[in-house]
Amino acid sequence: MSKVVEVNHPLVQHKLSFIRSKDTGAKDFRNLVSEVAMLLAYEVTRDLPMEDVEIETPICKATCKRLSGKKLAIVPILRAGLGMVDGMLNLIPAAKVGHIGMYRDEETLKPVEYFCKLPEDIAEREVIVVDPMLATGGSAIDALDLLKARGAKSLKLACLIGSPEGVKAIQEAHPDVDIYIAAIDEKLNEKGYIVPGLGDAGDRLFGTK
Ligand code: PRP
Ligand code: URA
Repeated sequence: MSKVVEVNHPLVQHKLSFIRSKDTGAKDFRNLVSEVAMLLAYEVTRDLPMEDVEIETPICKATCKRLSGKKLAIVPILRAGLGMVDGMLNLIPAAKVGHIGMYRDEETLKPVEYFCKLPEDIAEREVIVVDPMLATGGSAIDALDLLKARGAKSLKLACLIGSPEGVKAIQEAHPDVDIYIAAIDEKLNEKGYIVPGLGDAGDRLFGTK
């Protein structure tokens, strides 16, 4: 069974309260989503392998730890996942970025794939799939299926807000994928929106409604 890490750090919860508010405009919304993504990156990368390196401080020789060169990829689910990429790259600038385009059909709530471009060596990378919203879980499940079909073996999912249904769906479909999330909300409403949630993440990021 996959691990669910709810990142309820005070800074994350504080920023999330502004992200949720309908009075927060697109510019602040974008900045805050990026900042929370950066804080999530801190947790997602917690178990990266390290190696000893010998260095010299101005005082003496010392043995220190450095990342042991594990290759990473960040894969946003378009559109809303794009809002989390820069924040993640702030902490892991050497990561490559793949893109998966998917939208949820408003009637069926089923995801429709329209784009996929991944780093060639995706099979050798530790992949962090990012999407602010985990509602029914359909989009993330399909994105993870697609990545596995392209050879990805080590996958994590980072989201801002999820529903209990979405988290359970991922755990059932992809028990090997750990989930890092800032908040698990109460429920989904009849239109498949997370309650209380933040509304439509893509529209709020890009000002399309
Ligand atoms: C949103 C969100 C997720 C998906 C979550 O994207 O960013 O990708 O819905 O819903 P699910 O868990 O029920 O699949 P949307 O389909 O609105 O597309 P957009 O990012 O282009 O706005
Ligand atoms: N997609 C969103 O952007 N928000 C929701 O609450 C559910 C799906």
